Amino acid sequence: MTAPFTAEEVTAIRAATPGCDGDLIHLDHAGSSLPARAVLDTQIDHLRREAAIGGYRAAAEAAERSDAVRSSLATMLGANPSEIARTEHATAAWNAAFWSIPMRAGQRVVTHDHDYGANQIALLHAAERFGVVVERVASDGHGQIDLDRLATVLERPDDVAVVSLAWIPTSSGLVNPAAAVGSLCRSAGVPFLLDACQAVGQLDVDVAQLGCDFCSGTGRKFLRGPRGTGFLYARAGILDRVVPSQPDHHGARWLDLDRYDYVEGARRFEHWEHSVAGWLALGAAVDVALELGIDRIEATIAQRADELRARLADVGMAVHDPGAVRCGIVTATHPELAADDVSSALRDRGINTTVTFAGSALADMAARRVPPATRLSVHCTTTADELDRVVDAVRAL
Ligand SMILES: Cc1ncc(COP(=O)(O)O)c(C=O)c1O
Repeated sequence: MTAPFTAEEVTAIRAATPGCDGDLIHLDHAGSSLPARAVLDTQIDHLRREAAIGGYRAAAEAAERSDAVRSSLATMLGANPSEIARTEHATAAWNAAFWSIPMRAGQRVVTHDHDYGANQIALLHAAERFGVVVERVASDGHGQIDLDRLATVLERPDDVAVVSLAWIPTSSGLVNPAAAVGSLCRSAGVPFLLDACQAVGQLDVDVAQLGCDFCSGTGRKFLRGPRGTGFLYARAGILDRVVPSQPDHHGARWLDLDRYDYVEGARRFEHWEHSVAGWLALGAAVDVALELGIDRIEATIAQRADELRARLADVGMAVHDPGAVRCGIVTATHPELAADDVSSALRDRGINTTVTFAGSALADMAARRVPPATRLSVHCTTTADELDRVVDAVRAL
């Protein structure tokens, strides 16, 4: 078992994080986290360079560093750099993967209640456009995807176009058994699209062990990168089974007037224009996480979240996180106050939280019959003292 960071180590991580300088208690790392100074500096330095010499020259100057971001992401995921595509955010990555997968009328697109709202809308849209059938595999007694039911669905693999799973949902601290889902998909030969948006930066990720064909991620959440950044992992072996849905002249080569082909590797899913400053800063965030040790970040987050759940329950909050394994997202409701009111009262006391809302997690919230909840998400920057102050503030509501 990996040791969480010591109090001294947490102090050092906080000292390198500008958002930890003041009194703010940030419990919204699942929304948008606090970047390390190195990340902020990388982004601002590049913006200054663009302003000084023009964006194209600045990009040319940073070309090697830009390539290195792909290598950093690959290291974090256990992938090859050629399997990484740059995107603007997780949904863009997920869509690039999903719409590249061939599907025909009557086939099933398989998911779980906890899949993210944007992904579920895309599944519904695919049902409308291609006549596929959305199949939501129910949860087991732990609240995670029921593996036996999934295995049954995969008994007729030709009927299944794709399995989509949120490893960690937006609406609770559940950690779905992604590797077990990957193993079932591999045996069935069905493409597995893993939404790792809430997982990257807080869980150790090894795409080979997860058995996923695609893995989408975002920069701004537990990775502590900038907004407007993300990435897609696309396994080399899946590329000849899929076709990018919106190629441009960066992801594809225009060979002559009537012909084009795709560039090598996952870059075929990219578009040419992007925020170079954001991409470089994403790389800096990955490097910070790798240097700290993602296994130790994971252990620290898990410990803090468990403490917070226990302490919120002690002061009368109902904690709603299902799962045999849980992560840094804590969801809870007050016995009398609505989640919005709790969140805004905490904001008035300098504590950032958010509210889980049906539009991003309709199927999950309906299946569990939970109302909108206050979402408090911790990171390795969260201290025991901060949790004391949060619990005092909740008690005083
Ligand atoms: C589980 C999950 N998947 C996907 C997303 C979408 O991420 P992005 O907003 O970066 O597209 C979110 C955002 O909250 C999420 O929680």
